[in-house]
Amino acid sequence: MLTLNNTHIVKDTDPRLRNKSEPVPLPLSKADRKVLEAMLTYVRRSTNLEWAEKENLSPAVGLAAPQIGVFKRMLIAIVDEEVGDDQYVTREFALVNPRIVSHSEQRCMLASGEACLSVDDVHEGLVPRYARLKIRAYDMITDKEVEFRAFGYVGIVLQHEIDHLNGVLYYDHINPTDPWTTKEKDIVIE
Ligand code: NI
Repeated sequence: MLTLNNTHIVKDTDPRLRNKSEPVPLPLSKADRKVLEAMLTYVRRSTNLEWAEKENLSPAVGLAAPQIGVFKRMLIAIVDEEVGDDQYVTREFALVNPRIVSHSEQRCMLASGEACLSVDDVHEGLVPRYARLKIRAYDMITDKEVEFRAFGYVGIVLQHEIDHLNGVLYYDHINPTDPWTTKEKDIVIE
């Protein structure tokens, strides 16, 4: 089995991370499925202290294939979504060829900015994202073509990972002259 750890992570000092990744043929080949399963295992285990230490993983909520040097349109996201007062449901995505089919004009951003396994330098500032979006993809976990709405934190994580498939990094979105500025209707998530 293919096992990933931090030594596989491509950093932003490597210009390949700016590549636009290739669409993945469906149905998923065995080889592509293995890569996506290994990515899923990395992200699942990365937030478990014991596993993370034992296997040399950094805590992550998402991982895109180009970050492990595979330039194919595949990503993982594991995010706790708030479904009620202090009630959370963990949502796991293993998406192939994800596409943003529509999105709001309104923007949202994390108050503390974003981070990335591939980025070691500090880049402070707000990273504006679409507040709401609709995504279409093939999802390996449910083995289905899916179309779903995402918003808030879930939407931010998915946009961050989709960006990787286009060679875009989170700090590309930070306003260089006024990194903490917001517009009137922006939703800032604490
Ligand atoms: Ni990233």
